Amino acid sequence: MTIIRRPADIPSSEITAESAYIARREFIARAGLLGAAAGAGLLGIGCRAEDARAERGAGHVADSAGGTVASQDKLNSYEDITSYNNYYEFGTDKSDPKDNAQQLRTRPWTVAVDGLVKKPKSYAFDDLVKPYKLEDRVYRLRCVEAWSMVIPWQGIPLRDMIARFEPLPSAKFVAFTTLLDPQQMPGQRRRVLDWPYVEGLRMDEAMHPLAFIATGLYGKPLPNQNGAPLRLVVPWKYGFKGVKAIVKISFVAEQPRTTWNIAAPDEYGFYANVNPEVDHPRWTQSRERRIGEFRRRETLMFNGYADQVASLYRGMDLRRNF
Ligand code: MTE
Repeated sequence: MTIIRRPADIPSSEITAESAYIARREFIARAGLLGAAAGAGLLGIGCRAEDARAERGAGHVADSAGGTVASQDKLNSYEDITSYNNYYEFGTDKSDPKDNAQQLRTRPWTVAVDGLVKKPKSYAFDDLVKPYKLEDRVYRLRCVEAWSMVIPWQGIPLRDMIARFEPLPSAKFVAFTTLLDPQQMPGQRRRVLDWPYVEGLRMDEAMHPLAFIATGLYGKPLPNQNGAPLRLVVPWKYGFKGVKAIVKISFVAEQPRTTWNIAAPDEYGFYANVNPEVDHPRWTQSRERRIGEFRRRETLMFNGYADQVASLYRGMDLRRNF
């Protein structure tokens, strides 16, 4: 299913409550509409049988008309998703972003598109998103710190956005930069990281149908603590690739220098593909704690999206290119 109106257009009186959102999705799932949509192109993920068994009967079913589905995974609550965050521009504790990000002004907002593109240009946020119908995507998010959530995003497939910018054949990577504004982002007054936060993808990764620009979650505009007004979501990679509050998208020939890789190159690789077989130097990556659950669960290769993304890395040594 596609949300035709943009979040910015939805009056607060019409904002969907979490329970209503879930009920609507259950209704659609029961009516069989989601399966039809999945067959329409963007294929569902290969959720392992053990997972399906473990989670059968686990309340509502997370699903997505985009077809990119954490099939039996239970959605995390709106409260979980918006109060347990990583966003060092607003502090390093999980509760800091919710407490401190509310002061961030997300309108007006401009995104500069530059580098190796036919049409370098600065876009006002509304003009950037206007040409697209927003899509629903339910994705698992696996943080490198070994916790995870299941999040119902709304937004735009990254490849659709990129197509409009017309990158040149010489563009091999794309870099995304967060706002730099220590006045509004108090965490940037301390050199915890090399600001502004930058992340990047290889072009073929960026053009993969699962790569997504989120502008909302649970049918509401993206909360500031989750990266308003727009952030990257790459579900087969560790969460730190999901750069928030993007102000610049740059097409480049060389692999960009990225924030966590600069901070600790032995711990945070450029690729950052979820891989239970390659441990973080200080902890195992074979298991994870799903927020809201008691027992730890096994981490899946490429976060469960291997069927769809493993071919991107054929022939690559995933231990060296971690
Ligand atoms: N983007 C910026 N600009 N600053 C950050 O500190 N943290 C990253 C990523 N994007 C971060 C960021 C990390 S480590 C994770 S796990 C995800 O955001 C968390 O996204 P969430 O808070 O929406 O769950």
